[in-house]
Amino acid sequence: MNTVTVIGSINLDRTIRVHQMPKPGETIHTKEIFSAGGGKGANQAVAAKRSQAKTHFIGAVGDDDAGKAMLDLLAQEEITLDGITTLKNESTGQAYVTVDDAGENQIMIHGGANMAFTSEDVEAHRDLIEASDFLVAQFESTVASTVTAFKIAQAAGVKTILNPAPAMSKVPAELLAVTDMIVPNETETQTLTGIEITDEASMIKASAALHALGIAAVIITIGSKGAFYDVDGRHGIIPAFKVDAVDTTSAGDTFIGAMSSVLDQDFSNLEDAIRYGNRASSIAVQRFGAQPSIPYKNEITAAEGEK
Ligand code: ATP
Ligand code: RIB
Repeated sequence: MNTVTVIGSINLDRTIRVHQMPKPGETIHTKEIFSAGGGKGANQAVAAKRSQAKTHFIGAVGDDDAGKAMLDLLAQEEITLDGITTLKNESTGQAYVTVDDAGENQIMIHGGANMAFTSEDVEAHRDLIEASDFLVAQFESTVASTVTAFKIAQAAGVKTILNPAPAMSKVPAELLAVTDMIVPNETETQTLTGIEITDEASMIKASAALHALGIAAVIITIGSKGAFYDVDGRHGIIPAFKVDAVDTTSAGDTFIGAMSSVLDQDFSNLEDAIRYGNRASSIAVQRFGAQPSIPYKNEITAAEGEK
């Protein structure tokens, strides 16, 4: 069983379901409104834990009702909460998610406490990082805190996985230098490398650019097409499972959390781990919401037996 520590964001997601996205200036009726646990960091931790990884979280919430609710949700998952700081005078992160009938989403986030926790907060929980197999981070918290965490991880032989989302054009070289694996989607890959992802040849070119930055393992998630990987001279596309997607919110988070729960530290079983991540996220996209959609290991393995 892997131990996975996630450093990153915790959001209260407020989701609005609509038939079609409103055009600028347009007012439309919604189909449904609901609130649920979200945030790329928390989603990835929930995905890892539901796939039975021992899971620690490092991050922050505000001293408010949303923060208490989000901590309760993570406690129910039995994720280690010792690394979560409650910050006075900060609000808990929030995301405003709109999902249309095609399952596509638009998301606006308010970082709040996610953007206020510091490298000192990370240092205070270095024991959690050092006791892990993998450390996973995204871009919904400060880059400085992630750099500190990744340096602690690498010094302790813990593999670092960066999900560069939401896309950021100027990623500090200092962070990439301590990243063992990077997992962008197609848009994030283009933002990072300047290479448009159109086919496998463009993925090979983009991953070569990422390897040149010192990153050993590259996975590019390509939505309903699956995931491309390039590690140790092996590369290819592992296709996604064919399902009817209703809401792709947290598809990428589910993929990363689930995959990191079964991945070997030397990446030797990467193909199998990607297949497992694809299966996990194919279940998530058939359900609404971020954390409510993330499957448990028994659901993923049962689905594996189907086809
Ligand atoms: P999000 O931001 O919506 O969480 P993402 O853009 O980070 O997602 P994607 O590349 O869209 O990530 O999807 C991640 C993984 O989820 C894919 O590699 C694939 O395994 C699975 N997936 C996404 N969309 C679908 C779909 N329509 N059908 C089946 N699997 C899907
Ligand atoms: O990746 C999905 C997540 O992005 C949502 O849960 C939302 O909180 C935003 O952070």
